[in-house]
Amino acid sequence: MTRTNLHIGLFGFGVVGQGLHAVLERTPGLRARIGRIAVKNRQKHRSLPAGLFTFDKNDLLADPDLTVIVELIDDADEAYLIVKEALWRGKAVVTANKKMLAEHLPELIEIQRQTGTPLLYEAAACASLPVIRNLEEYYDTDLLESVEGIINGSTNYILTAMSRDGQPYAAALARAQELGFAESNPALDVEGFDARNKLVLLLAHAFGAVVAPTDLLAVGITGISERATAYAREQGLIIKLVAEARRLPGGGLAAAVLPTLVRPGHELAGVHDEFNGLVMQSGFADRQFFLGRGAGAFPTASAVLSDLSALTYGYRYAYKKIHQHAHLALAPDAAEVDVLVTFGTEAAPDKADFSAVHEELRSATRGNYLTGTIGLGQLARAAWLRAPGVGVVRLAAPLRAAVAVPELVA
Ligand SMILES: NC(=O)c1ccc[n+]([C@@H]2O[C@H](COP(=O)([O-])OP(=O)(O)OC[C@H]3O[C@@H](n4cnc5c(N)ncnc54)[C@H](OP(=O)(O)O)[C@@H]3O)[C@@H](O)[C@H]2O)c1
Repeated sequence: MTRTNLHIGLFGFGVVGQGLHAVLERTPGLRARIGRIAVKNRQKHRSLPAGLFTFDKNDLLADPDLTVIVELIDDADEAYLIVKEALWRGKAVVTANKKMLAEHLPELIEIQRQTGTPLLYEAAACASLPVIRNLEEYYDTDLLESVEGIINGSTNYILTAMSRDGQPYAAALARAQELGFAESNPALDVEGFDARNKLVLLLAHAFGAVVAPTDLLAVGITGISERATAYAREQGLIIKLVAEARRLPGGGLAAAVLPTLVRPGHELAGVHDEFNGLVMQSGFADRQFFLGRGAGAFPTASAVLSDLSALTYGYRYAYKKIHQHAHLALAPDAAEVDVLVTFGTEAAPDKADFSAVHEELRSATRGNYLTGTIGLGQLARAAWLRAPGVGVVRLAAPLRAAVAVPELVA
């Protein structure tokens, strides 16, 4: 289906919605215009004429003139209803709502298949970085070995402000919210859930693995202790919140979101503030690195704009890798991870859960920690992981297969 004139029904006029309006004003070549905007709060002052706004979603969904729905609201449950209804009505949809997508991806893929109506969401993973379409179109499943990145702008902004500028956690979070980087519910960012939702999207387009967010281990930044920060400083390493998905040599995939110690020379060590970075590792091309703004009005709107442009030439995701025969599945019990666990007096990690404990320190003045190797599935199941005072940081090594695969001799 080719669409040259886009007549848009826009849901949401917050940070990204207003960003999109401004960006479209500066992009006349696209021949796209916003016909109506649905918002929620009747008391808010709007910068555009009142006649453009409505509080009734059906004014957009039932309007045959509006051929494209752009969904930019901060309510994932309502967004799901809007997007589903729009697709069933044959309206192409562009959304930035990773929570909604991650929670309903199998159903949304099926509706696209049945209706033939496209749903695009480049802005939902890494905002301005063009990762979804690249993973979908450019990288072949057989060649891609891993994707690893900083994919949540707010937590990266907070970690940078704390380590580089010495800001306290609460002040850094408040500033990230002021600047429009943070989710309306900040727990989504700081508990690692937003990064996990994006990892769901990356897994689908990188490896053809459709998983539920709850299938993935996600540890956020709230448990990073002073002991862990001191450990990182002593070792000359930097703590970043890193999402990783890696193909295991024996088949299967390991994927998780974990605070991670990053070496200074690593690509991700140079990703600061609200920027995102994603390293793709592939068999023949070797390492490739995407770096760009991972949050904010214009960077996020730029990805929405690119999706709108893609609609004009009939683009839709083919989800090729999902339909391929030997698609990959998560295998957390076949993967291992090296971690630093810091803990206080209330709870301690169970050493029996580890395949190896490398180092252990208990100090009344400097706090307690151990470093060791543990199965990814075992770590996800460990009750002590969520106990008070326990913090987990991945050591500077990738996820790997639990059982060593013998090296081939040439
Ligand atoms: N901000 C970023 O940097 C960024 C980056 C990537 C992706 N995203 C995603 O983009 C989406 C929007 O984020 P945002 O930062 O622009 O949020 P925001 O600034 O909080 O704005 C949310 C907008 O949604 C509207 N809204 C909420 N519930 C609604 C409903 N039921 N019907 C109609 N409108 C409703 C609000 O209406 P009122 O104006 O009436 O309150 C508001 O205009 C989210 O899914 C977010 O995850 C954001």
